[in-house]
Order: sequence, then structure tokens, then C-alpha cells
Amino acid sequence: ELPHVFNEPVTLAIIGGTGLYQLDSLTPVARLTISTPWGFPSAPITISKTESGFPVAFLARHGLHHDLLPSDVPNQANIAALKSLGVKAIVAFSAVGSLREHIKPRDFVLPNQIIDRTKGIRKSTFFEKGFVAHAMFGEPFDLSLNAVIAEVGTEAGLLKGENAKFHTRKTEGDDLTLICMEGPAFSTRAESRLYRSWGGSVINMSAVPESKLAREAEISYQMICMSTDYDAWNESEEPVTVETVVGNLRANSENAHIVAEKLIARLETELANGTVGNDHVGTMKYSVSTSP
Ligand code: ADE
Repeated sequence: ELPHVFNEPVTLAIIGGTGLYQLDSLTPVARLTISTPWGFPSAPITISKTESGFPVAFLARHGLHHDLLPSDVPNQANIAALKSLGVKAIVAFSAVGSLREHIKPRDFVLPNQIIDRTKGIRKSTFFEKGFVAHAMFGEPFDLSLNAVIAEVGTEAGLLKGENAKFHTRKTEGDDLTLICMEGPAFSTRAESRLYRSWGGSVINMSAVPESKLAREAEISYQMICMSTDYDAWNESEEPVTVETVVGNLRANSENAHIVAEKLIARLETELANGTVGNDHVGTMKYSVSTSP
């Protein structure tokens, strides 16, 4: 039984998607049940420490027993709870389908763009009651955080598994675009092809509004995508099933732990130096356009 309070600021959070439910390499020191004005987060938030004593928050997006559908994730409460801890940077993991032949199942992808195909049923802003604010979202991910993750993720030999690749904007020489769909059913083949024609690289159900709310909360945010399947466009493959996704998730989970461990060590320094975590601080002040 871990303590239910933690009184130091926590500047780094990891959000785990399907396949990443805890941080094995760290020592848990507290488990927090946090109430926010938007309700409770998906799960209690675990605070763990590195060997040097750096605290990291971990939140399981779909709940500890994977009982939340993507459409039902309490994103406002998740981001608000992390903000209340003092979090300045979030690294969010997510299982995705690949829309490109060269992005193979079990590859990792660091997207830098998003196309929102959620259907307007998710609560996607903190500014509801009497406030009008427009967050800038042309670059939906934090560029400084993206650069650090790209550097760590592409270290030779980091990912286990035959030819497993970590795709970044630099390795591709082009935007890596994440399509975020509503679900819970996967896409039809026609939709999958439409997303390819739009330049989509990968597809999931979790990037929106998590990324938008992080921006409104002035938190640096980057998603790391773990490819599990070829979605439905690739006729030489079976259209995506839950079995395919789950099988590849097991393999991805090991790599997610490896990447998370390396990243945490690196981000401890970057956050201490202020080279990550400050790019959006103060921006919302200029985004409020409520009439005086
Ligand atoms: N998550 C994992 N694979 C996916 C796919 N093909 N479509 C949407 N979300 C996914």
C-alpha cells in the first residue's frame, strides 16, 4: 500500500496507452486519487522515482483494467490532474494502425501533425463557461520535446526486434501525420484509403482531445505511436482485428518500456535546465478573446 499524498512538484508525466500500464524500471512512491473540477482521471496516478530521486507521474489512459473506450476517456480530468501536480511535459504512448507500407507493425512513430477525425462528442476544451479562448495548434506537438524524443528514439539498437524502426520527421524527410478517429469500430477500407490520400501516416483513437487540452494547460506534449497493424487499406494483409493489435502490442510493450526509461533519464536533465517544458508557458493569456 503506497502513500496517497506526494508533496514535491512532479514535472514529467507519462500517459500509457494500450500495452503500457506501469513503469517497471522505477520505484513507485505514491498512488494519488485526484479529484478535479472535471471529475476523476482514468485511474489513480502513480508517482515513481528514478535512482537519482526524480519523480515521474504515470497515468493509464484506459484505466488500470483497460475498461475505458477511447470516446469515454476523461481527458479534461486527466490533463487537469497532471497540471495540478506541476507537470510541464507529457510523453503519451498510443497504439496505432499504419497507413504506410514502410511503417511496419512493431515500428514506433513520432508524429508531428494530427488530422482530427473524432466526431465532436468528446469534451475537448477547458474553456466552456463564459470564456472564449483559441489555443494555437498549428504545431500540435511540442517541438522541443519532439526533438529530444527523436534523438533518444533513433539511437542505434534501442528498439528490440528484427528491423524495428523509430520513424521521425527527420528519418522520413516529411511530416508524420497522425489521424485520430472516433472509433470504437476500426475504419472501413474506403476510409483507410481516404486517410492515405490525405497524407496520413498512422491512425489511432486517442490523440484528440488529449493533445489539445495539454496545449490549453500550457503543458509540452508529444505522442509516441506504436504500430500494431496495417489498418484496412492494405489488401495484401487481413483487415485489422483485435487479435493482430494485441499480439503486436505485447512486443511493443517491451520497447515502450525501453524508450520510456531512456527518455525519463534524458528529460530529467532537460526539464531541470528548462530546455523542455517552457515553450507554451504563458501562451493562453493571449488566447482569451472573451469580450470585455
Ligand atoms: N489502434 C491500433 N490500431 C488502430 C487502427 N488500425 N485504427 C485505429 N486505432 C488503432
